[in-house]
Amino acid sequence: MKSIYILGIESSCDDTSASILCNNQMLSNVIANQAVHTEFGGVVPELASRAHQQNIIPVIVAALKKAGIDKKELDAVAFTRGPGLLGSLLVGTSFSKAFSMGLNIPIIEIDHMQAHILSHFIQNEQGTKLIPEFPFLCLTVSGGHTQIVVIRDYFEMEVIGQTIDDAAGEAFDKVAKIMSLPYPGGPFIDKYAKEGNPLAFTFPKPSIKGLDFSFSGLKTSFLYFLRDHLKVEPDFIEKHQADLCASIQYAIVSVLMDKLSKAVKQTGIKQVAIAGGVSANSGLRNAMLKMQETQGWTVFLPEFQFTTDNAAMIAIAGYYKFLKNEFAEQSAVPYSRGASKKKS
Ligand code: KG4
Ligand code: ZN
Repeated sequence: MKSIYILGIESSCDDTSASILCNNQMLSNVIANQAVHTEFGGVVPELASRAHQQNIIPVIVAALKKAGIDKKELDAVAFTRGPGLLGSLLVGTSFSKAFSMGLNIPIIEIDHMQAHILSHFIQNEQGTKLIPEFPFLCLTVSGGHTQIVVIRDYFEMEVIGQTIDDAAGEAFDKVAKIMSLPYPGGPFIDKYAKEGNPLAFTFPKPSIKGLDFSFSGLKTSFLYFLRDHLKVEPDFIEKHQADLCASIQYAIVSVLMDKLSKAVKQTGIKQVAIAGGVSANSGLRNAMLKMQETQGWTVFLPEFQFTTDNAAMIAIAGYYKFLKNEFAEQSAVPYSRGASKKKS
């Protein structure tokens, strides 16, 4: 059978990424991060779209070069249509349309959240990676989303639980900001947590019914806890940074794992994956491995390069749509929200 070459393009937030896949195997995955947002403590949408415009061509040229193929060998271009920042999405969408028109190949639209999940299907060079079988559960945790999803087929996914306020990544970033750590704070909390005691401080767990999550209460109690301690001990944060990071990470991970365990019990599905930026968190990864050991779950942890935003996940989703001949129209426009729709 002829090999299928897909170019994936991701530009939904502040990473510009291009990746080439040959069937389900990755040949390249190039990511340009945008340092411009650090000083603002969060992503500035207008700056993000400008940086995407600057980065998109060099990133695609680099991805083709690394893959060792010519653009004329591409079979299709898969791009993130949403959810995300509209200005950022427009850069990837418009580029994909023009590029594919020039090459006379089809375009494939991809949902960013589905792609995070489908990153588990990217096979390694040796073809030895264990890949989930349907159905499986996925906890998708990023800066914008926190969802528990049942995956019945590549594009048959049902969201059975989600956050009612902040996303898990947002919770990490907000508590990091309170401690004056740089943006995005998740990786810093993770780093300092490794030196601290997770049981040094306790924070109240939210009591939300069913499989939904809430993180805003946790963030507020962390804020008040620090405010009270700083009154009596002005260098409280510096002195207890590792314990604070370990304790708040433990609290966030506990909220996630409690609901995930509940979902496993409720559905009877014991194949469980995690995806999205927060799936890089060592506390969460260890908690998952513990469930594999003690509860008989089969756990799927993404490689670190597939945790945060990347185009390889867009390309793999594109590959499975290509096999189904599901192509997009040139009239396709980005959407900023909508991944939480029940079925797709
Ligand atoms: O999936 P992603 O790259 O972008 C979105 O689609 O939002 O996720 C970014 C989020 C940020 O909130 C970041 O702080 C968080 O993932 N993150 C982490 C870690 N690495 C990234 N959170 C906790 N621990 C980490 N190691
Ligand atoms: Zn993402």
